[in-house]
Amino acid sequence: MDYEEKVTKIENIVSQPLKRFKPEELKGIIERYEKNHSKSKQAFERARKVIPGGVEHNLAFNYPFPLTSKRVYDCWMETVDNVTLLDYLMCGGPIILGHNYKPLTEKVLEVIKESAPCHGITSEYEYLAAEQLQKHFPSCEKVRWLQSGTEADMLAIRVARVFTGKKYVIKIGGSYHGWSDQLLYDLHIPGTGRMESHGIPRDIYKYIDSVPPNDIEALRQMFKEKRKVAAVIIEPMGGESGAIPVRPGYNKEVEELCRENETLLISDEVVCAFRLDMGGGQAYFGYTPDLSVFGKIVGHGYPSAAALAGRSDVMATVAAGVGGGAKRAYCGGTLAANPLTCAAAYWAIKFVEETNATEIAGKAATKLSIRMNEIFEKYNLPWFSYNFGGTVHFHTSCVFGIDITDPKQAPQVKERKEFMEQMGAALVDQEIISVSGSRFYTCILHSDDIINHTIQKVDAICQKIE
Ligand SMILES: Cc1ncc(COP(=O)(O)O)c(C=O)c1O
Repeated sequence: MDYEEKVTKIENIVSQPLKRFKPEELKGIIERYEKNHSKSKQAFERARKVIPGGVEHNLAFNYPFPLTSKRVYDCWMETVDNVTLLDYLMCGGPIILGHNYKPLTEKVLEVIKESAPCHGITSEYEYLAAEQLQKHFPSCEKVRWLQSGTEADMLAIRVARVFTGKKYVIKIGGSYHGWSDQLLYDLHIPGTGRMESHGIPRDIYKYIDSVPPNDIEALRQMFKEKRKVAAVIIEPMGGESGAIPVRPGYNKEVEELCRENETLLISDEVVCAFRLDMGGGQAYFGYTPDLSVFGKIVGHGYPSAAALAGRSDVMATVAAGVGGGAKRAYCGGTLAANPLTCAAAYWAIKFVEETNATEIAGKAATKLSIRMNEIFEKYNLPWFSYNFGGTVHFHTSCVFGIDITDPKQAPQVKERKEFMEQMGAALVDQEIISVSGSRFYTCILHSDDIINHTIQKVDAICQKIE
């Protein structure tokens, strides 16, 4: 599906009344959820006493309550209720070889047995993993291992400021770069600015701004206004992993504007690396960033996996050790670059390459997306699906597509978000787990049979719509 068609379809969804579940069908979905997952509900009630809200992670938030896992393997997730769900959540993207991919598990266990997960001095895996990363990302001449995508994004803008001596950082409206103070701005729906920035003083955003997605003239104008821009940071597929799809050519145009203005380009590859392309968004879309940010998939879901990487001269500002007066971008992290994570990164990248996982997961995603569109058409729904490699989006209520400046659309944010939650519950009702009822991540184990099975379930859901 080309870009113009995606834009037209998004506009079509948000400009017409929301398609809802038939009330009796919705009631049935929620009643079965409650009945089939009573042990998860008990676990949630218990967790609520010690954990704020009863669940820690945004991904684990499911409506009407979160599910508690018992056993997770391949592309399946068994809950404490003994319900086995087909997994398209894939931990929010990092799993592309399937859960607990045996060869990787064995390599990681070797490290734990031989040298402990973390001990405070370096290990050979630190540079071996960096070399692996570099092999697929030629722009990454130097690599610094970190502990989360949030941390790596946070460091990226600090490094850009130290290197350029400039202050402003521009992000694209609706994109997500972790939850650090400065980057928690204009999330999800473009133009919402500080709407989700509670607890962060307004002054923090003095040198942060955003531009509407895909609008290169708006960025050109921003450069004129701000002048001293240290960096522009992008999500290669578009905001929130491509939920707001990028216009072909846009990333390259951003790169060119950055070059003209002596500004660094930061490519946030947290979701794209090894999932969209072995060389990430930069290889797929054909541009060269100065800095790249990696997270979760770089260690195939093993904890504390992230990295900031890029040009040697830029990355030199982040060298460890006592500064001696040199201008440094301070960076720490007790558990960063631990042997377990670095071994996981080294072997994960190797296994993804050897199994051709990126291509296999991408093909599965394309099939899934095409077949879902056939079902949506069959039921005459305005909904649609598309994929960027192994990331499948399906827009139903399309909350990301809302034009927040339109007085007719803006008040619909809540009900459109609620519908996405209901869609998540409807998928669980069909024993499928998704990302927030609007996204599927594929892995090498999502075979044709599994896709056929998924399509039958999507068909069953569409029958429940008014
Ligand atoms: C594009 C992008 N950047 C950064 C992050 C933050 O990474 P982490 O959750 O490891 O902090 C995410 C998380 O989903 C992401 O999708």
